[in-house]
Amino acid sequence: MGMITPLVRAVTATRLHDMALTGLAATLGAWVAPLGSAVGGAVAGAVVVAALRLAMPKGDWLSEGERLGAPETPRIVEDRTVLDRLPLPVLLLDGDGVVTFASAEAHALLDRDPVGEPMATVFRAPAILAAVERVLSDGADETVEFTARRPRRRYLRATVRALAGKTRAVLALADVSEVHRLDAMRMDFVANASHELRTPLAAITGMVETLQGPAKDDGANRDRFLGIIAREAARMARLVDDLLSLSRIELQANVAPTAREDLRAIVAEAVSATSPLAAENGNVLQVALGDGPLEVRGQRDELLQVFHNLISNAIKYGGGDRPIEITRVEQPEGWIGITVRDHGEGIEPSLVPRLTERFFRVNKRESISRGGTGLGLAIVKHILTRHRGELRIASTVGEGSVFTVRVPRA
Ligand SMILES: Nc1ncnc2c1ncn2[C@@H]1O[C@H](COP(=O)(O)OP(=O)(O)OP(=O)(O)O)[C@@H](O)[C@H]1O
Ligand SMILES: [Mg+2]
Repeated sequence: MGMITPLVRAVTATRLHDMALTGLAATLGAWVAPLGSAVGGAVAGAVVVAALRLAMPKGDWLSEGERLGAPETPRIVEDRTVLDRLPLPVLLLDGDGVVTFASAEAHALLDRDPVGEPMATVFRAPAILAAVERVLSDGADETVEFTARRPRRRYLRATVRALAGKTRAVLALADVSEVHRLDAMRMDFVANASHELRTPLAAITGMVETLQGPAKDDGANRDRFLGIIAREAARMARLVDDLLSLSRIELQANVAPTAREDLRAIVAEAVSATSPLAAENGNVLQVALGDGPLEVRGQRDELLQVFHNLISNAIKYGGGDRPIEITRVEQPEGWIGITVRDHGEGIEPSLVPRLTERFFRVNKRESISRGGTGLGLAIVKHILTRHRGELRIASTVGEGSVFTVRVPRA
């Protein structure tokens, strides 16, 4: 009853200037009445009015108050309009924990209209249900985080506060999935970086102990051990350099470089820097950039780093004695595209999206034996993002890989 009376009042109180329509509605309401109670008739009448109005081509038939449910007083209409317009998913609950109002953002978040549903069907997570129960029984404020599974898996934070004594509650939701994802990434990164540094450090410590103890007078092995120490120390230095370079690029992520640079000269420099490694591995570097300017807004050293890493990856992982092609590719107007193609083993399709993750390597031992830190492609991706460009990777197992650098033309 409590819900029905205001609904009828709302409908009859709004701009119903078409008396014929009202009459028709009343008649239809009265016709339905014998089927149920008098209230049923009134509700049916009201529903008919709403349906007829919706069917009529008049923009202003539905008042804001109606759209938001059953307004009891103009002030509540106003409050609910404000709640509805807030860029925040908000639910109002009655004393039994049934949803009486859901803001537009809450509709969007839940992908449906939850009004009339008890909380237990809106969310299944025990944490949020227990919080609502406590708020409605104790009146204390509660903030909980929980996993919502519908319409898709997300991590939500809900703040629940009691209203009007403990007879109602307001619940504001926030999607904190991204915060959780970043938190997890940060912790992963610290764990990975420490692990990557600890491995060569353990090797160095081990060798020093050996030289101080058992191999103290072992002249024959001394040089070998010192060689290992030097190699591992160099590896640590590379790791620290790459980490610093990554964090420097990340810090400048929002500052696009402004200098005018010629990609032709940059690619040529990367090719000449990597050609000794290519010659050693039996790879021929074939460059075909065509004619015409290849000018971009960029930071020279960073763009050099991009091509240096892509070409040295093609040499390291693309197999020996095969050509590596560095080619200009057609792009939509305003873009320049350059690909680095190898004819190596290729990469498993499921692993391709992971290549730009920090420390990700398809074959860790192989990468480490070739002096890799696993940060190269992560750095490439960040550099290109800062240049408002992107890296595309296509690979076919058994045929090879194509890494395409795409940057806006200057
Ligand atoms: N052309 C390629 N063909 C096959 N696998 C590749 C190719 N390029 C990269 N990979 C794989 O991706 C991984 C990540 O490459 P990335 O450049 O980020 O690191 P790295 O080469 O191992 O180390 P770094 O570049 O820091 O020296 C490599 O370890 C390798 O497994
Ligand atoms: Mg690399």
